[in-house]
Amino acid sequence: MNILITGGCGFIGSHLADRLIEKGHAVSIIDNLSTGNIKNLNGKASFYNLDIRDKKIGQVFEKEKPQAVFHLAAQINVRKSEEDPFLDTDININGSVNVIKSFLDSEKRGKFIFSSTGGVIYGDTDILPTPETVEPFPLCPYGISKLTVEKYLVYFSAFYGLRYAALRYGNVYGPRQNAYAEAGVIAIFSTNVLENKTPTVFGDGEQTRDFIYIEDVLNANTEMLENDIQGVFNVGTGVETSVNRIFEHIKAASGTDIQKIHAGPRKGEIKRSCISPKKITGATGWRPAVEIGTGIKKTFEWFKSADNKAT
Ligand SMILES: NC(=O)c1ccc[n+]([C@@H]2O[C@H](COP(=O)([O-])OP(=O)(O)OC[C@H]3O[C@@H](n4cnc5c(N)ncnc54)[C@H](O)[C@@H]3O)[C@@H](O)[C@H]2O)c1
Repeated sequence: MNILITGGCGFIGSHLADRLIEKGHAVSIIDNLSTGNIKNLNGKASFYNLDIRDKKIGQVFEKEKPQAVFHLAAQINVRKSEEDPFLDTDININGSVNVIKSFLDSEKRGKFIFSSTGGVIYGDTDILPTPETVEPFPLCPYGISKLTVEKYLVYFSAFYGLRYAALRYGNVYGPRQNAYAEAGVIAIFSTNVLENKTPTVFGDGEQTRDFIYIEDVLNANTEMLENDIQGVFNVGTGVETSVNRIFEHIKAASGTDIQKIHAGPRKGEIKRSCISPKKITGATGWRPAVEIGTGIKKTFEWFKSADNKAT
């Protein structure tokens, strides 16, 4: 199948490109390398160094004729979205509508798979693990932009027949992960430990997140391609892990006796976040397979390895 990935030089997108190429698909990538890395680019993919807001992406769709699109390119930094909400709306909303329209103009029956967020879309709910039936209430511009795109998908589906899935990820971690993304704490602590710096935990460290390993996220994405299902699906473990616990896992993975320090809590930080994967499990049989200790060990090893040095 011809598949187009936006954000295919980033953390999740580049692993997805590797996986789809491994499965025999022809992959093309649109990425402006703003946070992505050309080192992540799979040599078998066609690459277009373009911004998703650029109308020229229409020509890429005309040329590559993708039968499915995985849309991952985004401004992913929550703090940046608060400092500059216009940049966030511009990239995440205008850019996404440009991608959806370009796809619809070139292919009427393909599937559009959108990387949304389960980490921030539900806001500060006390229904945990949160199912998709809880009304989203994002408390940051980044989350609002992701929810808005989901609503555009519903619109384009109802009026233009777009087939889509929106995957609401938990906090995704693994090799190549980005320190600014939702599971950034794992990248930051790992780098701190390797540089002999003392990790700082904001607040008491008992805030929780739903950390999900990259391999599990890739499996959820390919399920969307292989199953004729539509709608919004959480992609998480249903298990809460505290930042203190993450620190302990990284300490164990590094084999050091490193200590942490605590600083004041971050303004507006959600105390607990955890999403229920029951819907996607029921629809496809997908379930998270990588236990957090194992996933952190693999991630830490990557940060330690030469692979990561020139990034
Ligand atoms: N990492 C997580 O924990 C997490 C959690 C929930 C959702 N997501 C979503 O998954 C997707 C991928 O996230 P990631 O962690 O791989 O981030 P990433 O920053 O590693 O990847 C994003 C990619 O998009 C590209 N990009 C950004 N703006 C662009 C633009 N205007 N035009 C073209 N390309 C652009 C970047 O260069 C980068 O390669 C994002 O949509 C993100 O919101 C990630």
